[in-house]
Amino acid sequence: MLKGKKIVLGVTGSIAAYKSAVLLRLLVKKGAEVQVLMTKAGKEFITPVTLSALSGKPVLGEFFERGDGTWHSHVDLGLWADAMLIAPATASTMGKMVNGICDNLLVTTYLSARCPVFVAPAMDLDMFQHPSTLQNMTTLQSWGCTIIEPASGALASGLEGKGRMEEPEAIVQLLEDWFVGAEKKKPLSAKRILLTAGPTYEAIDPVRFIGNYSSGKMGFALAEELAARGARVELVCGPVHLKTVHPNIHRSSVTTAAEMLAACQELFPLCDGAIMAAAVADYRVAQPAAQKIKRSGEALSLQLVPNPDIARELGLQKRPGQVVAGFALETVNEEQNARLKLEKKNLDFIVLNSLAEEGAGFMGDTNKISIIGADNKRRDFPLKTKAEVASDIVDHLEACLITN
Ligand code: PMT
Repeated sequence: MLKGKKIVLGVTGSIAAYKSAVLLRLLVKKGAEVQVLMTKAGKEFITPVTLSALSGKPVLGEFFERGDGTWHSHVDLGLWADAMLIAPATASTMGKMVNGICDNLLVTTYLSARCPVFVAPAMDLDMFQHPSTLQNMTTLQSWGCTIIEPASGALASGLEGKGRMEEPEAIVQLLEDWFVGAEKKKPLSAKRILLTAGPTYEAIDPVRFIGNYSSGKMGFALAEELAARGARVELVCGPVHLKTVHPNIHRSSVTTAAEMLAACQELFPLCDGAIMAAAVADYRVAQPAAQKIKRSGEALSLQLVPNPDIARELGLQKRPGQVVAGFALETVNEEQNARLKLEKKNLDFIVLNSLAEEGAGFMGDTNKISIIGADNKRRDFPLKTKAEVASDIVDHLEACLITN
């Protein structure tokens, strides 16, 4: 479970620093890539040479190399790591972490880390029992850090073991258990999902276009939900002003339906499924004008030609096991129209949202949907935020991926 995991190991100035050599050896043996960070005091207890030899990487301690000025970016380290483990963690380092005192690379990296952080305190009993230390550990815990203590440590009753650093074997086991648990919470971790979002713009002339009111909010909520469940998301989106947050979302920006189709055709064979949330223009102007069309007193006719139906193309191309889900945005005869689209586009399920429902459809932060499956069963959902709606849709996608 630790194979390939990137771990930042912070070593601070405690007599227990000798245990970090064993800890490091165990992590490396399990296949983890470990970058050691040491405080100045940590180096008084164990030499960087030992830890560098065991990790196969130079040990970092300073913000930059005195010799040649090479800068060690705490931000890069914090983003690189799948987990940060500070073992041993002194009372002083925990105090700095709580108070944001960034006078060394280790604490600075902690403040930039986006990964889970594990802290194994090590100090004598008096220091451990001091209200300052207890308060700092409680604060770190409330911020999501895992405080690792021996089974007979502070969390248990009695004084025995308090302040002693947990044994390396137990720390490694705890990390492994954490990663196993995290993988279980990410049921789509081996999946790659294509997602379309936003509108398409079809040019009339160099300054005008045919478009629609899609803001991309529904699609972007789906992207974040899919990524949060571990999927790699291939987001193909039309012109929107939204930003994605999760690093697992790979965005391809397009303008027209033809460009959206081309991007989807390239990505779909690599994906396990697709959700088509984009509001694609069904027609485009046959001959967009090369120059701005001038106003005249006359009526103006534009000849429109049909755009490709991207959802249908993918629905017809899908191979066994691939799941394709579409949306139906309706104003009348909602269910009938949605069922027709489900069938015509060969979809596994369709998400119906109707502009006749208050709070549903374009631009807002809420939506009200019904999901109609290939088995023709319909499930209605109440009005929810688009983030909650995304969760309902991804639940359904997950179920389809399992049964397909
Ligand atoms: O972006 P927001 O402001 O948050 O609004 C969200 C939304 C209303 C745009 C979204 O919830 C939604 O309903 N998206 C689909 C809109 C739409 O175009 O529906 P449709 O019924 O016209 O199309 C049916 C399906 O075919 C859709 O999955 C659509 O993406 C797809 N399609 C349609 C036409 C086309 N040429 N190619 C397509 O792939």
